[in-house]
Amino acid sequence: MKVTVCRKEHFNAAHRLYNQEWNDERNDEVFGKCNLPNYHGHNYDLIVKVTGEIDPRTGFVMDTKVLKDIIREHIIEKFDHHNLNLDVEEFRTLNPTAENIAVISWDILRKKIPVSLELKVVLFETERNFVEYTGE
Ligand code: NI
Repeated sequence: MKVTVCRKEHFNAAHRLYNQEWNDERNDEVFGKCNLPNYHGHNYDLIVKVTGEIDPRTGFVMDTKVLKDIIREHIIEKFDHHNLNLDVEEFRTLNPTAENIAVISWDILRKKIPVSLELKVVLFETERNFVEYTGE
């Protein structure tokens, strides 16, 4: 009997989407306004889902307080109110798209969450655009 525990967190961050190997025209064509040189911001919602068996001693799959603290310490502190391209090492050479932010977040969290639990992240970049990653 597996149950999924979900925690939603929030951060604001700036980014710019572009490919250094392309000229301005090609970048404009592919990324449009997301390529504007002075960056723009998003209000991101990050939903972290952990799936596993209920521990009969606690009744928890994972203590949500512990999950919350892990997300805040390792993801929110790193991304919130930062410029992802300039301030976050992982995005120095990786385009900070929603897809890549989800993958980087998953990679960081996977190292902090017990291996017995399955992990999935859902990242909302806008209310209507979101991505999911399960490490596959
Ligand atoms: Ni954007």
